[in-house]
Amino acid sequence: MKKIRKAIIPAAGLGTRFLPVTKGLPKEMLPIIDIPTVQYIIEEAIDSGIEEILIIDNVDKTIIHKYFSVDEKLENKLLETNKKDEYDLVHHIGTMCKISYVQQNDPKGLGHAVSLAEEFVGDEPFAILLGDDLMSNVGGTPVLKQMIDAYDKVGSSILGVQEVAREVVHKYGVVKPVSIDGRLIKISDFVEKPKTEEAPSCYAGLGRYILTPKIFELLKTQTPGKGGEIQLTDSIKRLMDIEGVYAYDFEGTRYDVGDKFGFVKAIIDFSLRRDELKDKVQEYINSLVK
Ligand code: G1P
Repeated sequence: MKKIRKAIIPAAGLGTRFLPVTKGLPKEMLPIIDIPTVQYIIEEAIDSGIEEILIIDNVDKTIIHKYFSVDEKLENKLLETNKKDEYDLVHHIGTMCKISYVQQNDPKGLGHAVSLAEEFVGDEPFAILLGDDLMSNVGGTPVLKQMIDAYDKVGSSILGVQEVAREVVHKYGVVKPVSIDGRLIKISDFVEKPKTEEAPSCYAGLGRYILTPKIFELLKTQTPGKGGEIQLTDSIKRLMDIEGVYAYDFEGTRYDVGDKFGFVKAIIDFSLRRDELKDKVQEYINSLVK
């Protein structure tokens, strides 16, 4: 069985839920305090054993590329001024992983974005991490690693899911479970953004996928679905007719950082974990409660 070595991060969306800032800044670069969301996503991938990443961006998002490149001018300046810690920080970002880029300049949907990764992926199973879905599992196994471990057991495509409230199932791809074995769920259907009354369960796909390369064949013939877009969910549903597909009820907290309240929650939680901030932030929260 082939090892999961490659991951793709689709980052070409318009970020309409986060206007106006996304008019000038890609939503993937919105900082959780001082670190852009996409950096956390890349760190999760690296901590899960991923060796190569493809970011699918667009002509307006080249700032992501710049951020993850080596900035010799800045690095030299920091060295000359004896700012070694800052140098290490900046140098690490430019060299943390082998990252390549492909542009999706016509936003035709997530399925279309993923189809652009075919050449990068080749004939290997691979991971997808959506930039809106920030994961945290403090002290535990990174979410993607949990899914890779599950893949190593079953050798099939795996969708990262968690149960959500029935009132919000219409925002997600929702799976139909057939049998549940611990956290691993055999599924028989996957529906993109169903109406509440039509949802096959409350297990929602939350932006982490491990897929076999068979998906690319299916994406080529995928007709537009929900919202007139080429939906990845629809091709995964067709994949189920050919191969087994599982869901994995991962351990950890997922923040929807493409949503304003989700973003605020992430900032609060992440600041409460930072040694230099936690006491001040906690004190401030306590003062608000009073
Ligand atoms: C996408 C997927 C959806 C998934 C969601 C998770 O939707 O199409 O299946 O549940 O991400 O965040 P989007 O939120 O991009 O509309």
